[in-house]
Amino acid sequence: MSTRATPPDQVTTRSPQPLPWRLDCHVAAGDDAAAADELRRALTARRPWLPARWFYDDAGCDLFVRITDLAEYYQTRTEQALLDQHMDALVRAHGLTELVEIGSGAARKTRAILDAMESAGTLNRFIPFDISPGAVAASAADIASAYPGTRVHGVAGDFSRHLSRIPRRPADGRRMVAFLGGTIGNLDPPRRRTMMRRLARLLRPGDCLLLGTDLAHDPEVLVRAYDDSEGVTAEFNRNIIRHINHAYAGDADPDAFAHVARWNARASRIEMHLRARRDIEWNIAGLGVVVPVEAGSTIRTEISCKFTADSVRAMYEDAGLVLADWHEDPQGRYALSVATRA
Ligand code: AVJ
Repeated sequence: MSTRATPPDQVTTRSPQPLPWRLDCHVAAGDDAAAADELRRALTARRPWLPARWFYDDAGCDLFVRITDLAEYYQTRTEQALLDQHMDALVRAHGLTELVEIGSGAARKTRAILDAMESAGTLNRFIPFDISPGAVAASAADIASAYPGTRVHGVAGDFSRHLSRIPRRPADGRRMVAFLGGTIGNLDPPRRRTMMRRLARLLRPGDCLLLGTDLAHDPEVLVRAYDDSEGVTAEFNRNIIRHINHAYAGDADPDAFAHVARWNARASRIEMHLRARRDIEWNIAGLGVVVPVEAGSTIRTEISCKFTADSVRAMYEDAGLVLADWHEDPQGRYALSVATRA
């Protein structure tokens, strides 16, 4: 039996046929005062750091795709294999009718989930959510044409502010909210906590959260995943300087910074930094700040926390969720887990 609905606008309108997807956009390039404030505060902190969102301009997104193809960066392909292996059973066990994907990007992994929902005959709606309106529009159009009859409702927003704009699900549906790629690990503990609680608010009884988390394991393997032999991650890291220069008329030379990736055992996380090769005065006119960076000192650009089954369970419990399923690869490097509302 199929519970798939026919989009009402396809029934009632004449030509030209409206596209069978919509996009709600809550972000606008260039006028994001909250993001600028956060950036200014981060750069003028006692220990300067950069919010990870600044990695992802067009060049950064391309570099990230190259990272996912690196032999050393096992995360993406491991997660994909776990999705391919376990999605059918998950979809059937939870009777899923819709997918909300947070940070959907190019929606490459999405298809494994949608395929499982389609072959179970329950696929009704896909809601991609991403900071990039262009990425949401492209993936919405892509998915709408690849899965005819599926409603696609894209939302472009910042996950620290706009998750509440995601539409409610119909009373007879069952939703999966997916937050993949290990991105939860990029948030420090307080932000992670807030994020998990916001994600939990998108769930009603019967719904579930699918989370991808990188696991704490061999530090050497972890460091190599963030400091690859081809230098792609180093370029990705330096590109954050380029992006900020471009967005706010900054003047730092990206090549004046060396890429650093290190394992912080105490905090169970990989950290990426940019270390000044010489004294730098980074003048960022559009932000009205000058950031002095002494030779040898670093700006932290990313944290990527690595979890255990226990730390994931604790994170769920704190958000009022219950760990329902845990799947990790045979080498214990990466896990997909599912949580439901307590
Ligand atoms: C996709 C954001 C989770 O932390 O592993 C890859 C980003 N940074 N290499 C991660 C990233 C350096 C990635 N996330």
